[in-house]
Amino acid sequence: LSTGRTRAGALTFQAVAPNTRDAVTVPPGYQTSVVIRWGDPVLAGAPAFDVRQQTAARQSRQFGYNNDFVGVLPLPGRDDRALLVVNHEYTNEELMFPGFTGPDALTVEQLEVAMAAHGLSVVEIERAGRTGRWTPVKGRHLAYNRRITALATRFELTGPAAGTEALRTAADPGGRTVIGTLSNCSGGITPWGTVLSGEENFNQYFVGADQAPEAARPGLARYGISATARYPSGSRKWDRAQERFDLAKHPNEANRFGWIVEVDPFDPDSTPRKHTAMGRFKHEGANVVVARSGHVVAYMGDDERFEYLYKFVSEKKFLPGRSQLARQHNLTLLESGTLYVAKVTGDSPAAEIDGSGKLPADGGFDGRGQWIKLVSGNKSYVPGMTAADVLTFTRQAGDAVGATKMDRPEDVQPSPRTGKIYAAMTNNTNRGVGANAPVDEANPRRANRHGHIFEITEDHGDHTGTTFSWQLPIVCGDPAAADTYFGGYDKSAVSPISCPDNVAFDSAGNLWISTDGAPSTLQTNDGLFAVPVEGRERGHLKQFLTVPVGAETCGPFITADERSVFTAVQHPGEISGATIDKPASVWPDGGYAKPAVIVTWRPDGGPVGS
Ligand code: FEO
Ligand code: CA
Ligand code: CA
Ligand code: CA
Repeated sequence: LSTGRTRAGALTFQAVAPNTRDAVTVPPGYQTSVVIRWGDPVLAGAPAFDVRQQTAARQSRQFGYNNDFVGVLPLPGRDDRALLVVNHEYTNEELMFPGFTGPDALTVEQLEVAMAAHGLSVVEIERAGRTGRWTPVKGRHLAYNRRITALATRFELTGPAAGTEALRTAADPGGRTVIGTLSNCSGGITPWGTVLSGEENFNQYFVGADQAPEAARPGLARYGISATARYPSGSRKWDRAQERFDLAKHPNEANRFGWIVEVDPFDPDSTPRKHTAMGRFKHEGANVVVARSGHVVAYMGDDERFEYLYKFVSEKKFLPGRSQLARQHNLTLLESGTLYVAKVTGDSPAAEIDGSGKLPADGGFDGRGQWIKLVSGNKSYVPGMTAADVLTFTRQAGDAVGATKMDRPEDVQPSPRTGKIYAAMTNNTNRGVGANAPVDEANPRRANRHGHIFEITEDHGDHTGTTFSWQLPIVCGDPAAADTYFGGYDKSAVSPISCPDNVAFDSAGNLWISTDGAPSTLQTNDGLFAVPVEGRERGHLKQFLTVPVGAETCGPFITADERSVFTAVQHPGEISGATIDKPASVWPDGGYAKPAVIVTWRPDGGPVGS
């Protein structure tokens, strides 16, 4: 009771009202501050940030741009030190370079700045006193701090597709070593203390697909690699800095992106890996649970309209404990296993799913599903495709087995309390429109602007199993609208929410949801929300914070002690027509906008959410 909670884990905070402020807004009784922002030093000796003097060498030692995934891994035996691991998904050159006039006018040095601003950062952080606030550790002995970039970091390919024909290039004839990682969106922390990161919209970095060999073109097209070079949805012109981004000359280079990346933040000298056994698509992220059998299971989404949900089950079993032997073993778990894709059916008559969002007569959007095996080790289960084909062209494998086309599967997170799995379907304005796939019970709204949450309950609670039931606990939007649903909870008491993207759990089992898209669908800023998913409060969703103008909300990460909520504020000021010289946002420091990771806490020491 001294913490202010009436019940352990109860979300009693006062909801933040939707707004369009150029600020972070948090509930009464909370404080928030920037942990680290674009350009802040990461490696010892990094130069002070000067937006007019930026170079690739400087950026390679500084915090990158557009932070998305956030993980906080405590240093063993300490509650006042941790490693902050952050993805840098992409760059907004128009918001980074003063005098920007267009991508064609960028110098090669500026292109390399952008490449160095991609990737990941590992930053040692410390708790400020006994509060929930954290700040970077300063000094010369930053043993763990690391920058991983698209420019220069070497990655090792693992698994059955490593070394195969489609992954070989002139620079890497063995097909086992890739320079850089691209479009790292969401991710997850493994039970053995590594970080997984999803390579998502890698298509936008390549040119020349129309001049690639005939045989390579269908594979490039299926991954959305455009033959035209438009900005920003098309090419980023990186081929002017590194020829490998020209598919006319290096058609296989694109096949070396779109993987799940594993980084060991506790070993700064380790080579990060791309795991081919987990398939190749526009990976949003991956989150791992240990099944009762000891196998580890990763749930994953492919974020594009009408793409699929996947899961990976390891061949080997997890070894518990902190021994070096266990850790070495667990580091190999994602290198071999079985990859499945989801096929789902509804339990209501198709005629009752009319695209309006009206609930069917049985009172819920729900049904059954199966995990269809695509490949296990070196054995393919897809006719006409080898195991390497299935792993490298996983979308085509999903097509071949009739997987269910979903409304943009984003982050997928198992509940640590119940084992149920929660996937954000962010939106799909093409659903049921024209010749596109029609509505179905799992994607029930035509031209779905606001998205929904998809909840999976594995049969017998077995994460390695192949059958499950599912339902939609939340159908997003304005709660005043008839086509929204919040677990049956009184809709007058819930916050509007649109375009769910990243999902996370607190230790009490509340689901936290960050959004990307509310400015265009609800005309308010994006934000972070929390909602119970069990019991009488199921569906009682409330807005916890809002982010500044033009930003999407990422992370989130709630520390195990429930004293801190980390949130990534991605692309503040990303408004059509805005530039660093004519900014739409000046958060957080004034002048122009900087992406940053923030932490929010209760100065009275109470648990976050209360
Ligand atoms: Fe990078 Fe699917 O969001
Ligand atoms: Ca139903
Ligand atoms: Ca995302
Ligand atoms: Ca996003």
